[in-house]
Amino acid sequence: MDQRGKAYIDQLEREHHLAFDEYVYLLKNRSDELAEYAAKKAVAVRQHFYGNAVYTRGLIEFTNICKNNCLYCGIRRGNATVERYRLSEDEILQSTEEGYQLGFRTFVLQGGEDPYYTDDRICSLVRKIREQHRDVAITLSIGEKERESYQAFFDAGANRYLLRHETANEDLYRKLHPEEMSWKHRMDCLRTLKEIGYQVGAGFMVEPPYQKVEDLAMELQFIEDFKPDMCGIGPYIVHHETPFRGEKSGTVEMTCFLLSLIRLIYPEILLPATTALGTMHPRGRELGIESGANVVMPNLTPVGVRKQYELYENKICTGEESAQCRGCLDQRMKSIGYELVIDRGDRFGWNRR
Ligand code: 5AD
Ligand code: FES
Repeated sequence: MDQRGKAYIDQLEREHHLAFDEYVYLLKNRSDELAEYAAKKAVAVRQHFYGNAVYTRGLIEFTNICKNNCLYCGIRRGNATVERYRLSEDEILQSTEEGYQLGFRTFVLQGGEDPYYTDDRICSLVRKIREQHRDVAITLSIGEKERESYQAFFDAGANRYLLRHETANEDLYRKLHPEEMSWKHRMDCLRTLKEIGYQVGAGFMVEPPYQKVEDLAMELQFIEDFKPDMCGIGPYIVHHETPFRGEKSGTVEMTCFLLSLIRLIYPEILLPATTALGTMHPRGRELGIESGANVVMPNLTPVGVRKQYELYENKICTGEESAQCRGCLDQRMKSIGYELVIDRGDRFGWNRR
């Protein structure tokens, strides 16, 4: 066993902090044995705050129209082969209603940066979901906006916001995004969201093109410093209608190791076992939970359009009805000794307003 690696993991468990070079060492020297050692500790820590509960969020992908052109993403503006769609307000409200009946108490409204959905339209939607069900948490994931917009959504009743920072390294950000996109603006958005009072989800992809272990070490330092309430991470998965066609996808192993390290850095954090992880391995989400994750986000998008929200290839769950996904995950979690709970799933220690 790698004694030095083990000592770093022990230290991380105690102090929730390591130096940059220590993170680099761990990432460079990942072995199955070391990963297992970290996972065991991560699971124990997660158990302390969340027990055997796995939180669930109903994901509604309500538009695949996007004005951005991120180099890795299958629904980038430049991909002319995607059939574009937009759900109407009624369709979205039907999905949340169905989700509520299935036991979801939080919804994530995710979409491309679609100019049709003006602030007024988003606010109206948020208010209507709030009228439908007072006891749900409403999460938005609709990209970069100005402070006034974020504030308006919040005042309308939104509780959480997911905006993956994608990378903590500005240079890497430039290699993954077109010139007109700004890393600084994205980071400012995250700070603004926190200031306004949202529960904030950040996140990044594991092993996209150009990413080095040093970049991943920067991600871990970012989690230490910024302390997002949630952190979504999943393997990068190649999409052939992007400039990154022909590149390699990220691995389940590295993703799971990072989940464990992040759990040790910030014990109360919400960590999803992502659909991307489930796409890369038939038991990917189970492996994620067994590495320290505590959230799953099954799809509530109407089945008719699901295939069109193809951020990456071979995405799972594009043919299954919402109830099937709920049932499937119920079973999967039971099979490893966990329980999918009917709960808003706030971060431990979060003060509800
Ligand atoms: N592989 C994996 N994840 C991707 N995302 C976008 N494209 C891909 C891909 N090809 C992630 C990004 C984005 C989130 C919604 O999905 O991190 O923020
Ligand atoms: Fe969708 Fe398993 S979670 S089919």
